[in-house]
Amino acid sequence: MGKVAIMGGTGLTSFDGLELKSSFPVSTPFGEPSSDLVMGEYKGKQVVFLHRHGEKHTIPPHRINYRANIWALKEMGVDRVIAIAAVGGISKDMAPGVLSVPDQIIDYSHAREQSFFSDDFSVTKHIDFSYPYTEPLRQSIIEAAQQCHFDIVKHATYGVTQGPRLETAAEIKRLAQDGCSIVGMTAMPEAVLARELGLDYASCAVSVNWAAGLSGDVISMTDIEDTLAKSQLKIRQIVTQLIEQL
Ligand code: HPA
Repeated sequence: MGKVAIMGGTGLTSFDGLELKSSFPVSTPFGEPSSDLVMGEYKGKQVVFLHRHGEKHTIPPHRINYRANIWALKEMGVDRVIAIAAVGGISKDMAPGVLSVPDQIIDYSHAREQSFFSDDFSVTKHIDFSYPYTEPLRQSIIEAAQQCHFDIVKHATYGVTQGPRLETAAEIKRLAQDGCSIVGMTAMPEAVLARELGLDYASCAVSVNWAAGLSGDVISMTDIEDTLAKSQLKIRQIVTQLIEQL
């Protein structure tokens, strides 16, 4: 079995019981990943952490080198990626603070490198992507949340927008009509690149705001940051439980 990677957030690379082994830069044929790879060990399990937006959170969603990130993880012997995502809530059950495990994606992003085979294509590279998240890994996240006694929504369709701006109210209305229950900016091409390299991929999403036009007010970054801060502990507990379980 390979290693587990945690892709995401601030605050995840330090928690009780985690031994940090090393941290080093990696380069790939597709360029530099967003940050150094941090190798850790928790209860005898090897874990790799990667900050999707860079160590200081300076890389916007459309500028992330998704190919380098996924390639670097593969090279480190990772075979399962847990993606932590902050999202906007669209459906009624996705109020700020609610955790979910998406099972579908609709991609509205554009001009992002979507494939490792862009310059070396053959028909065999039309990979199956009917179910973009790895079901057993999704179930592991759900189980970990339940072990922690946290409510978690078991199905969600993640609409991926380009960013870095948030959406208009009309765009969110359209996403809702399309069947999106949450909206974020990073699930694509991350999920498809993981699939191309044969990595299991699942996500734990935390809703940090009502999506545009749904609360009757404009979206406040301060509110988003507050909700995110409040959710950090839960995410950390789920991640530690999950690492133990996997
Ligand atoms: N839209 C897109 N991405 C997001 C949002 C949002 O409302 N909230 C957090 N990430």
